[in-house]
Amino acid sequence: MENLERKPVDFKKERPQLFKMKGISAKTVEEHLKIYEGYVKKFNEITQKLNNLTDEDYNAANVTYSLIRELKVEWTRAFGGMINHEIYFGHLGGEGGKPGSTLGSQIDKDFGSFEKFVKEMKATAMSARGWAWLLWSDDLNRLVISISDEQNTYMVQNSKLILALDVFEHAYYLDYGSNRKGYVDIFFDNIDWPVVEKRFEALKV
Ligand SMILES: [Fe+2]
Repeated sequence: MENLERKPVDFKKERPQLFKMKGISAKTVEEHLKIYEGYVKKFNEITQKLNNLTDEDYNAANVTYSLIRELKVEWTRAFGGMINHEIYFGHLGGEGGKPGSTLGSQIDKDFGSFEKFVKEMKATAMSARGWAWLLWSDDLNRLVISISDEQNTYMVQNSKLILALDVFEHAYYLDYGSNRKGYVDIFFDNIDWPVVEKRFEALKV
């Protein structure tokens, strides 16, 4: 995995609207971005270690414990932590409301209505230990909502992440304490739907 070094997105510069959201404080965003940057750092560090494995390390491969096993497993967590947060911060700081264009029609088709979609997404977020995701499934040829308890769990094969809702406590505890529902509700008022629409349209569904 040569040449895989990634730089963190400079959200302070690229999305200043993240620091002026309704009900999600600048302090929460600032602290959350440090967590995101930590994932990018670990992604680069683990990638580097994988690149530097020796023949001795390859020969020591073992299912219970081996260096290559540990690195391969944690690489997926670092990668997930990096990409999940890039998607999340990339579509926050907007006006909320409803998606239009192709995505709006697809949501109506796959969930019955925007309101039904929101109901399922919020209930999924209230049941998740990490993330609620809106995904496009290439296999099912439709949008699906999935749950994840970590940065890298319960992945849905051949799917693409369209909308990510972070429900780790670091995403809301400073502003809402244990009232996760308050945060989940306000999340929808801050979605930048035009960004999500573009992301969806780029799939050329
Ligand atoms: Fe997070």
